[in-house]
Amino acid sequence: MSWSEAWEEGRTPWDAGAEAPALVELIDEGELGGSRALVPGCGSGYDALALARVFEEVVGLDLAAGAIDRMERLRVERGVAADRVRGIRADFFEFEPEEPFDLIYDYTFLCAIERGRREAWARRMDELLAEDGEIVTLIFPVVDKPADEGPPYAMSPELVRNLLAREFRAVELSEVEESNEGREGMEWLGRWVRRDR
Ligand SMILES: C[S@@+](CC[C@H](N)C(=O)[O-])C[C@H]1O[C@@H](n2cnc3c(N)ncnc32)[C@H](O)[C@@H]1O
Repeated sequence: MSWSEAWEEGRTPWDAGAEAPALVELIDEGELGGSRALVPGCGSGYDALALARVFEEVVGLDLAAGAIDRMERLRVERGVAADRVRGIRADFFEFEPEEPFDLIYDYTFLCAIERGRREAWARRMDELLAEDGEIVTLIFPVVDKPADEGPPYAMSPELVRNLLAREFRAVELSEVEESNEGREGMEWLGRWVRRDR
């Protein structure tokens, strides 16, 4: 089943129904903020909408029209201004924005793509991020299961570190203390900046 079909049929078992507590904590502590943020594979957009509290413009990107429609409904429900969160239906691997982003936030996107595309994911992170930008990866699911079982495919902090290592270094890589129900003990937070910073 394609991503678009999954959205059309309402088969979205990955949807936590709420913002990720680890992201909300970063926002509440004043750790994040700036001009432009990108959320690839944004799904319903809970996290994109949360980021709109501290970024002037958040782009939620998703292949599936159903996801973009859902995020737009949520945006209206939550009273978030249209110019703060923009849904774009596009393929992350082909997306050509007008400007790079100050933040790229990945949650349950890397674990969803085919394993053979992970190097391309890392290259895109580099291409789409501003020189002094930051990547935040909420790494999930950190579980022990066969590598070819998914999506979601098993993730680990080391896997993400290795993917980003050529251009980026971790300024934080730690296990998350609070997660949405059912995800406890399976999430790590990574914050990455360019090596020359
Ligand atoms: C597992 S879901 C996660 C959604 C959201 N991040 C969440 O936490 O609920 C993965 C999402 O990525 C989207 N997606 C998959 N491949 C994509 C691609 N190449 N470019 C953009 N979006 C993609 C799917 O349509 C789906 O909404």
